[in-house]
Amino acid sequence: MYTKTVSAAALAVVSSVVAITPEQLLAAPRRSELSPNPSGELGVFSATTYSWNTHETETIWHLVNLTSGRISSLYNGSDISELVWVGPNDTSILYLNGTNEEDNGGVSLYAGDVTAIDEAYLVASLPAPYSGLKAVVTPAGNINFLLNSLAWPNGTAYNEALVEQPLSTARIYDSVYVRHWDTWLTERKNAVFAGTLAGGNKLSLRGSLRNLVSNIANVTRAESPVQPFGDSGDYDISPDGSQVIFLTKNIDLPLSNYTSSQIYLIPHNGSSAAVPVNAFSGKSTPSNAKGASARPTFSPDGTKIAYLQMDGISYESDKNKIYIANANPSSFNITVLAANWDTTPDQVQWAPDGSSLFVAGPDLGNERLFQVPLTAAAAFKPTNITDQGDVAAFHVLPSGNLLVSDSKIWSSRDFYIVGPRGRLITSILRANEVDPELAGLGPKDVSEFYTDGSIARVQSWIIYPTGFDASKKYPLAFIVHGGPQGGHYNAWSTRWNFKTWADQGYVVVAPNPVGSTGWGMAFQDAIQDNWGSYPYEDLVAVWEHVNSTFDFVDAENGIEAGASYGGYMTNFIQGHDLGRKFKALVTHDGMTNTAGSYSTEELWFTQHDFNGTLWANSENYHEFNPLNFIDKWATPHFVVHNELDYRLPVSEGLMLFNILQERGVPSRFLSFPDENHWVLNRENSLVWHKEIFAWINHYSGISK
Ligand SMILES: *[C@@H]1O[C@H](CO)[C@@H](O)[C@H](O)[C@H]1NC(C)=O
Ligand SMILES: *[C@@H]1O[C@H](CO)[C@@H](O)[C@H](O)[C@H]1NC(C)=O
Ligand SMILES: *[C@@H]1O[C@H](CO)[C@@H](O)[C@H](O)[C@H]1NC(C)=O
Ligand SMILES: *[C@@H]1O[C@H](CO)[C@@H](O)[C@H](O)[C@H]1NC(C)=O
Ligand SMILES: *[C@@H]1O[C@H](CO)[C@@H](O)[C@H](O)[C@H]1NC(C)=O
Ligand SMILES: *[C@@H]1O[C@H](CO)[C@@H](O)[C@H](O)[C@H]1NC(C)=O
Ligand SMILES: *[C@@H]1O[C@H](CO)[C@@H](O)[C@H](O)[C@H]1NC(C)=O
Ligand SMILES: *[C@@H]1O[C@H](CO)[C@@H](O)[C@H](O)[C@H]1NC(C)=O
Ligand SMILES: *[C@@H]1O[C@H](CO)[C@@H](O)[C@H](O)[C@H]1NC(C)=O
Ligand SMILES: *[C@@H]1O[C@H](CO)[C@@H](O)[C@H](O)[C@H]1NC(C)=O
Ligand SMILES: *[C@@H]1O[C@H](CO)[C@@H](O)[C@H](O)[C@H]1NC(C)=O
Ligand SMILES: *[C@@H]1O[C@H](CO)[C@@H](O)[C@H](O)[C@H]1NC(C)=O
Repeated sequence: MYTKTVSAAALAVVSSVVAITPEQLLAAPRRSELSPNPSGELGVFSATTYSWNTHETETIWHLVNLTSGRISSLYNGSDISELVWVGPNDTSILYLNGTNEEDNGGVSLYAGDVTAIDEAYLVASLPAPYSGLKAVVTPAGNINFLLNSLAWPNGTAYNEALVEQPLSTARIYDSVYVRHWDTWLTERKNAVFAGTLAGGNKLSLRGSLRNLVSNIANVTRAESPVQPFGDSGDYDISPDGSQVIFLTKNIDLPLSNYTSSQIYLIPHNGSSAAVPVNAFSGKSTPSNAKGASARPTFSPDGTKIAYLQMDGISYESDKNKIYIANANPSSFNITVLAANWDTTPDQVQWAPDGSSLFVAGPDLGNERLFQVPLTAAAAFKPTNITDQGDVAAFHVLPSGNLLVSDSKIWSSRDFYIVGPRGRLITSILRANEVDPELAGLGPKDVSEFYTDGSIARVQSWIIYPTGFDASKKYPLAFIVHGGPQGGHYNAWSTRWNFKTWADQGYVVVAPNPVGSTGWGMAFQDAIQDNWGSYPYEDLVAVWEHVNSTFDFVDAENGIEAGASYGGYMTNFIQGHDLGRKFKALVTHDGMTNTAGSYSTEELWFTQHDFNGTLWANSENYHEFNPLNFIDKWATPHFVVHNELDYRLPVSEGLMLFNILQERGVPSRFLSFPDENHWVLNRENSLVWHKEIFAWINHYSGISK
């Protein structure tokens, strides 16, 4: 099974061990974050499973006693699409029902109590597919809430189901930014809507929903959340419900060239205009703060706003700095915390007493938690509160302890409570201990090592197959990550699940070369204008280290795979010596021709990473172009490229496949018409896994 030389006896042992298959990976529960109620005694989360018999998902909402850790089922059904804790009692909730009675493409809002969820009642039927519910109780006892939806230029929420199809499908544009991620852009943009529920024990919507964003426009119109990945983390409501903050991309700049975004403050009742908190070149704004803003969050007393912002006006992966502003339009008085901290936090929550923040950010291959006091000077260096794992979300409980939802390479979801110094207080759930699909997975499946690289030490994860025996040899699966600013983290993935690859019979090595985030900004930023130099040298160094160090790895029968930037790197490797070390290569939605980066929509990314334009700095694009090295292409190559991928259009994958075919290199092309840069549909994902695994298992000798 593992190698051609494995004995029959060994095979018998190996086959009795349960390994994770693609079917199990895709069917296993996918859990949301665990969201605590105001007192921190209870929490809710949803879990969605998939059946290969019915080909349908099933969603169960669970209730958790955060003191005992006991989990019980609360509601069965995906019609509850979001649930928030709010209302007169500690157990009161509001939820969004993803349907409404008119069945017109809208949603509906229900109020209830987790102790009697069947008695929840309809509060409002909303005529558009709103999402991103945030709600608080006001001093008057009403509920002020926020939702978001696409909206027309006149501010009205957009409901696709109610729109008449035009007679012609023409799309006409006069400026760049015509499509983004998987969507052709139109005059419709996301907006934050505010509403109020009144009536105590029988709540109802008072008035109608107000669009808080649509009046803000200049060169471009404001949009919040920012497409395509923005969510309710792009806005917040003050604890008393009186004020709202939201972020939008800079309205004075063309959208394709810049990442700059600003945060606006507006009364929830819309009585006065929104004002920018960190106005571009505003008098309160630190002079270097020009880039993308993130995570605006009111302090517990509502007097302050914490947020993150990058300096670089067009660098999407610049360092996030932590800022505090007064939530007072007459004096925003902005201060920066721990300005010299050499990492880029991406999540923020306030401590209950408002004297410090808890932040999460990439750190040495994990997404870790840190505490930063409001008094933190530039030189303050926070210490990590967590160690292993990738924090997906966290909440600060009234006790000051942290309720964490994370994942690991060996567990799809762990829920636990830690103290502010990292002491484990309650372990609530470890998916690998309860999900049958994940049975047997654990920390023993993973280790890491460092290698001397081009400019610094390079970290790599190593993932072992089930039943691993160090006296045997397993072919290498070498997986290169996307970004390039990003990384392989100690996280569960349903798209690139290392353990599922390993359980085909490989030792997986997942390196974090130059460009990776979490080893200091200099290591990450050195990728600029160096796509094919430092990271390639690092990958060669890691491969040589693996080949010379780990006797249990059969590097000579290995395979290499990568998506996005990892796909670009795979195409680059195909034309270089490292390409000859592998028996097969896999490119998922990668770049074949660097000039093709002008057919993607995020020109800020292209012009930053290649440090200039295709006309003024063409050498930067030419130097590490995979197309320059076609004459060396020889290794069997599996190509995936999806039609809805507008980040890197399908022509990149077709070009790669056509050249491989014309050169006589064994190759296969897989494409999904309904998938974007990622493969999300589970039935498509199963085909993706089966086809790729059949290809690599053939060439690595695992299956003959
Ligand atoms: C949670 O569990 C604890 C300990 O078992 C118990 O004392 C408490 O009443 C429970 N809380 C709720 C809200 O059920
Ligand atoms: C939900 O379904 C599960 C079985 O899938 C069952 O055990 C549980 O009792 C149900 N919960 C509710 C609240 O109906
Ligand atoms: C919630 O509080 C209201 C009073 O505000 C009370 O009438 C109601 O019974 C409470 N509900 C529960 C489930 O405790
Ligand atoms: C959701 O709304 C539908 C009507 O559109 C209703 O039949 C269903 O019971 C609702 N579900 C919940 C959990 O409120
Ligand atoms: C806003 O524009 C849309 C699309 O043109 C239209 O359907 C809607 O009626 C308008 N809303 C108002 C309040 O005028
Ligand atoms: C609207 O909200 C602001 C801020 O809370 C408040 O000062 C103002 O009085 C409110 N206006 C109305 C008409 O309620
Ligand atoms: C639009 O942007 C320009 C350039 O930043 C600025 O001078 C002008 O005041 C803005 N106009 C409005 C209405 O905000
Ligand atoms: C966008 O950036 C490019 C390259 O720097 C520049 O040539 C172009 O004029 C910019 N476009 C706008 C609308 O500012
Ligand atoms: C502005 O911030 C500084 C430093 O935190 C503080 O000393 C000052 O009192 C603040 N000013 C206002 C008006 O809040
Ligand atoms: C912080 O990280 C280090 C490794 O970098 C780890 O040894 C330590 O346990 C972590 N601290 C906590 C409190 O988890
Ligand atoms: C890989 O390791 C093997 C065994 O140690 C060695 O014979 C071979 O030369 C190495 N290959 C390369 C390219 O370093
Ligand atoms: C990017 O271009 C600028 C201007 O030409 C140059 O000063 C800088 O060194 C370049 N950066 C890199 C990483 O090549």
